Amino acid sequence: MKKLSQTLLTAIEEELQHQVSRLNEEHTATYHEMLTYHMGWTGEGAGEKARGKRIRPLLLLLAASASGGDWEKALPAAAGIELIHNFSLFHDDIQDKSETRRGRPTAWKIWGIAQAINAGDGMFILANLAIGDLAKNYPADIILVGERIFQKTCLDLTRGQHLDIDYESRSDLSVGDYWTMIAGKTAALISTSMQLGALFGGANEETQNAYRDFGHYLGLAFQVQDDILGIWGDEALTGKSAASDLLEGKKSLPVLYGFEKNEEFAQRWKEGSIEEANVPKMAQLLEVEGARLKAQRQADQMTDLALKSLQMANPQDDAGDALFSLAEHLLGREA
Ligand code: IPE
Ligand code: IPE
Ligand code: MG
Ligand code: MG
Repeated sequence: MKKLSQTLLTAIEEELQHQVSRLNEEHTATYHEMLTYHMGWTGEGAGEKARGKRIRPLLLLLAASASGGDWEKALPAAAGIELIHNFSLFHDDIQDKSETRRGRPTAWKIWGIAQAINAGDGMFILANLAIGDLAKNYPADIILVGERIFQKTCLDLTRGQHLDIDYESRSDLSVGDYWTMIAGKTAALISTSMQLGALFGGANEETQNAYRDFGHYLGLAFQVQDDILGIWGDEALTGKSAASDLLEGKKSLPVLYGFEKNEEFAQRWKEGSIEEANVPKMAQLLEVEGARLKAQRQADQMTDLALKSLQMANPQDDAGDALFSLAEHLLGREA
């Protein structure tokens, strides 16, 4: 089972390199370098940690295989999804003023904001070109359905990002608003990874929907865990700053729970933006007021819902086992 995931991850990396090589042209070598750096292949600190986890393309190929399909044919879709994810990260790090990702300086810190926006745009187009490569492996009607899902997801992701940024300056938000925001910014792409895997693996519509629901709940659990790590995570493991969510005023789930309690954390928040020196104190208040535990329980619940949907999808063979264990493993992740 581990062996299958390893085989898939190696194939994903090769396909990604192939897709990104489209930008490898003489007069714009630095442009190409920005992308290969961001993907973790070049520059100081290049290597496994700098590449990130690649969970979205892995999920897609596992879904294709667990539906009885040939995962190799779905490789361009897996690459397309990971390129969209990386497009969103280029922009997200600018939007969030994040200086570190995957343990290295972010692209905008090295090349400046203007060039990092352009590199993100390039990544977006490469993702679309990768999806176009599926035409050689599947009939036109399936491609059309897949492309529609893919495009709609990109839109949902940017809508989620819109809300995430909008929420920074708002204080009238409920936990319900939070779910809408993360369903867009994070769960949309993870659920589409599953749905496209099932579609290209030959699953019927009902099964595709069960896989999609699995991805949706897994994506929600994944973002809640990201929020927890964004306050209490070990920077050496996450490769990201553990202060920036609080500094940026992000309405992450623990923060919203802190507001609900309306005790010392909420009072201090109302006094104005948080200084870097006060971040550990604010994180401690949140923890004492129970927000961390409550968020963890929510992540557990979302993972349970994900596993129920996965059971409905009834994934087969080694790929099926790998999907169950990946879902359980992601819940306790530290990176
Ligand atoms: C980070 O995603 C952004 C979120 C949606 C939380 P990942 O945690 O999958 O990032 P990498 O690709 O492994 O670095
Ligand atoms: C995750 O955003 C979603 C996207 C990047 C589209 P976050 O801002 O919560 O993720 P990290 O913590 O920077 O990876
Ligand atoms: Mg963000
Ligand atoms: Mg961010």
